Amino acid sequence: MSSSVSVAIENGVAVVTIDNPPVNALSFHVRRPLYEALATLRDDPSARAIVIACAGRTFVAGADITEFGKPVEQPELRAIVALLETIAKPTVAAIHGTALGGGLELALGCHFRVADQGARLGLPEVKLGLLPGGGGTVRLPRLVGAEKALGMIVSGAPILAGEAKAAGLADAVVDGDLLAEAIRFASETADQGGVFIAVRDRNDRLAETDLAAFDAQATDLARKSRGLDAPLACAEAVHNAITLPFDEALAAERALFVKLVSGDQSRAQRHLFFAEREAAKVPGKDLQRRTIERVGIIGAGTMGGGIAMAFANGGFPVTLLETSAEALQRGMAMIEKNYAVSVSRGSLTEEAREQRLGLFKGSTDYADLADCDLIIEAVFEDMAVKKEVFGKLDAVARPGAILATNTSYLDVNEIATSTARPRDVLGTHFFSPANVMKLLEIVRAEKTAPDALATVADLARRIGKVAVVVGVCHGFVGNRMLSARGAENEFLLLEGATPGQVDKAFTDFGWPMGPCQMGDLAGLDIGWRNRKARGLTAVIADTLCEEGRFGQKTGRGWYRYESGSREPATDPEVEKLIRTKAGELGIAQREIGADEIIERTLYPLINEGAKILQEGIAARASDIDVVWVNGYGFPIGKGGPMFWAGLEGAVRIVERLEYWRQRTGRGIFEPAPVLRRFAETGSWEAVGGAL
Ligand code: 3HC
Ligand code: NAI
Repeated sequence: MSSSVSVAIENGVAVVTIDNPPVNALSFHVRRPLYEALATLRDDPSARAIVIACAGRTFVAGADITEFGKPVEQPELRAIVALLETIAKPTVAAIHGTALGGGLELALGCHFRVADQGARLGLPEVKLGLLPGGGGTVRLPRLVGAEKALGMIVSGAPILAGEAKAAGLADAVVDGDLLAEAIRFASETADQGGVFIAVRDRNDRLAETDLAAFDAQATDLARKSRGLDAPLACAEAVHNAITLPFDEALAAERALFVKLVSGDQSRAQRHLFFAEREAAKVPGKDLQRRTIERVGIIGAGTMGGGIAMAFANGGFPVTLLETSAEALQRGMAMIEKNYAVSVSRGSLTEEAREQRLGLFKGSTDYADLADCDLIIEAVFEDMAVKKEVFGKLDAVARPGAILATNTSYLDVNEIATSTARPRDVLGTHFFSPANVMKLLEIVRAEKTAPDALATVADLARRIGKVAVVVGVCHGFVGNRMLSARGAENEFLLLEGATPGQVDKAFTDFGWPMGPCQMGDLAGLDIGWRNRKARGLTAVIADTLCEEGRFGQKTGRGWYRYESGSREPATDPEVEKLIRTKAGELGIAQREIGADEIIERTLYPLINEGAKILQEGIAARASDIDVVWVNGYGFPIGKGGPMFWAGLEGAVRIVERLEYWRQRTGRGIFEPAPVLRRFAETGSWEAVGGAL
């Protein structure tokens, strides 16, 4: 046998063990020996039953994603599953860890599934821009019913063993020795004799389907798919499973899979899968990590409260510090309200809420931070205030504690100078709301110690964040590029585009909302204050703010909002204001198309990303993609700005930037040398940063 697949027969039960670390993906070097082993056992009279199990931390977590887009090596997973279904003795999958994608499809080829109680089972292919391609869309509905299967396949979210048992996907749940129980199950089933029905032949659950209700569910999902092809293909495949004979539905699933796997959206989403894992790797893999048990947060405002919740949700005790008892109480009240909303929505149990709130300790005394291992400052965005806070921290924090700032823009090197321990200082830039948003920019300052950085990168994962290490500059990676994306906004409006047209170009591209809607949501006063502090102006946005139009919170901004509504409505007053300002400035208005809006906003975004790489503020182009997808809603089907630059064509981007540079005279359009080199080489790798 190969080292990836081994077989042992004991008391008439054959155990086939797959061993392909780290996650037992079904790589070619697993599939071939697996196929051969099953073919042999099918005809081996000394095996009365077969158990498929995995070594290591998990059952098969799917097809090998690195093989997609390359020539397919036989046998494919489909052939293995088909072979399993020709075996006339009981076959049992023993599932621990995760049975995902092709892993669950392999298990669906077995007559039975026995799962460890902590196991999770799911078909997450949709997250890679795919649909299950090994029969999952045709077999899962036969066990759990079409509506449940559709929900699982379109969301990609796995379910726990207990739920799988209740739904009919697992036949037994084991608390204890999984393999021993799976062998016992297989042996007893073999002893009972009889015919074992393959999943492909189990049609009763499907026959119960209310097709009209199913189609209504599918239509609803289609509405939410925001330009992604995979969710629609998933729904189509499950529909086929209900309406077509098994083999025809299987063939149709295959055709859909082949189309998706070679498409740009799936390539983009696979890029992001590996990009997120790559971003988490910081230099110093073997460095000793610092111990983090208690976390201190300074400032219980919007961000401090959210960050505190993120840590409490991850099980960390938190000390929350404010300037006064009233401010502390206000902050805690907001946190309690947020948890209460989660309980009322059913996403959090009452018990979990109590347990999380029990992790909070409030204080107004810096001395109470002395037992914290990581202290994150989230006070006002003001250098003098930040420095004062870090000075106080220096006096009370224990040696080796990591001191972090949540600043959006300020110079972390300068903040570090207010302590005698700059090696322990770094930035942790969370995104709002911090308990929800996945992105965390970890800002590496000049003197940050590598072990402090590695500790925070590990910690980010423990609280469910996607971390990207970035260097110090104004706005780091995300906000700096956001400024570049928005630099032409006012010009576009003055030249004739309406806020509605700008936003529509963005939502048609796949963004959840456009820049004007985003401004209204975040509050236009934030940018206004920022501009004033930096001596900058924005002729239209400033006027809106002077008129008290701050966005949703005042019911008026770029749009109008009926009382209590978040739905933006076109406001003729704003359009008039824009026309008036254009007239005052002598700017002739004209029709502006969606293509122009995209070129003048997203090409500068990419150009700024190129500069960031050039300066070493980001280590890899793919890190920038991770920031934009997880922090700003860049459409996942386009893979992030730097990946999309490749799809769009870097040569074209450079040409168009040069065109706009000439036409407007503005430096934002000057192509960065690194972008030019990307256009020549077709690869960011050749030009990228390294922090
Ligand atoms: N193929 C190739 N490599 C994979 C992989 C896969 N399916 N799943 C994980 N890996 C790699 C990761 O890239 C990572 O590599 P690295 O250490 O070199 O960076 C390593 O395995 C460990 O992965 P994680 O860091 O993600 O480990 P976790 O323990 O946090 O998570 C997991 C484990 C839940 C299994 C997670 O890795 C995961 O969700 N994997 C993807 C599962 C998936 O999408 N399966 C479906 C694949 S598509 C398919 O099956 C098509 C079929 O229908 C035909
Ligand atoms: P906020 O105004 O909501 O909260 C700041 C809190 O800090 C207030 O509750 C205030 O009482 C408290 N505070 C001020 N000085 C203090 C001191 N010396 N000691 C203890 N507490 C003090 O501000 P917000 O929005 O939470 O921002 C905090 C930081 O996070 C800023 O640096 C901001 O730039 C950054 N940030 C903000 C984001 C946002 O979307 N609001 C996003 C990412 C970062």
